Amino acid sequence: MPSKQEVEESLSQIFIPGITRNLLQMNLVRDITIDNGNVKISLATTAVSDKIQDWLKDKIAGMVSDITDVHEVTTEFVSSTPKELNQIGRIIAVMSGKGGVGKSLVAGLLAADLSRRGNDVGILDADITGPSIPKMFGLTTRPIGSDTGIMPLPSTQGIGIMSMNLLLPSEDEAVIWRGPLMSKAITQFWEEVLWGKLDYLIIDLPPGTGDAALTIMQTVPLNGVVEVFTSQDLTTMVVRKAIKMAQKMNIRVLGVIENMSYLLIPETGKKINVFGKSKGEEMAQASNSPLLGQIPIDPKVADLCDQGKIESYESDAVSSIVANILTALDKKGKN
Ligand SMILES: Nc1ncnc2c1ncn2[C@@H]1O[C@H](COP(=O)(O)OP(=O)(O)OP(=O)(O)O)[C@@H](O)[C@H]1O
Ligand SMILES: [Mg+2]
Repeated sequence: MPSKQEVEESLSQIFIPGITRNLLQMNLVRDITIDNGNVKISLATTAVSDKIQDWLKDKIAGMVSDITDVHEVTTEFVSSTPKELNQIGRIIAVMSGKGGVGKSLVAGLLAADLSRRGNDVGILDADITGPSIPKMFGLTTRPIGSDTGIMPLPSTQGIGIMSMNLLLPSEDEAVIWRGPLMSKAITQFWEEVLWGKLDYLIIDLPPGTGDAALTIMQTVPLNGVVEVFTSQDLTTMVVRKAIKMAQKMNIRVLGVIENMSYLLIPETGKKINVFGKSKGEEMAQASNSPLLGQIPIDPKVADLCDQGKIESYESDAVSSIVANILTALDKKGKN
């Protein structure tokens, strides 16, 4: 008699066209029953169009019937919601008091590093009016789905990405939305996107402490936030404000990240503090959380972002920040 493990192994070889995580990773397989040589597979229809359902039925029949002693393969479809299927390990939001400090860059780099470590990772771009994640990852196609949900678009490395930019008719289209509508869009990115099984979901927030940040903090069970600032920041006030908001919402501040902290001269390894002395310790103190690390100004990363290849940027600074975030997450309790 075929084993459940053999059937699962076979299903793990099946990918919906355009999606780089298999049926099990998308958590679409609801049940497998085996009665002698008869295998019955129950599959969720969530975010799967009729056409793809037909395709899957044939594909599954073909793959599973290759297993020794399988006589008959039946696939039945059951309805479900993305919310019921999503199983997300840890959720981290990247925020900052002000704009242009490199939040999106940090969100992208954290996701890429976590993914390189062998994790299944997603990015929810909660910057509805100024989304920049798709461009950094070079994504231009539209996500697929059905009226029961949509699937994140996979990046080159397989990170699942959902952003307003992927849904607009044109990348240059301006989104002028009022607060309530924006909150609704963010809620939909959380509730109506089939993220499937993820180890980490990184949320890129727009700058400040407005509606978007509030909606995310109210709707999504965050494991923590990281706060990005630059040494150009003259006061600790904006950082404090953002931190205060997280604390008020009872959300852990995992730490602060100083971006564009220094310029590294490649030939000599010399660090130049372009914007004066680092504010790292000061910000860490103001936020009552650790300084997770400092990211240098690197023309290479800016170029890669422009080319949509942020994933190919690897740096010790970022890896060490990720390691510190993982340590902070492992620590119990709140700050
Ligand atoms: N460490 C860095 N080295 C070089 N360029 C950087 C660095 N950090 C950010 N940049 C560049 O600065 C610009 C702004 O970065 P980014 O879009 O990540 O900021 P942001 O905080 O998300 O902005 P917004 O508030 O508009 O969402 C981008 O062009 C990015 O490539
Ligand atoms: Mg941004």
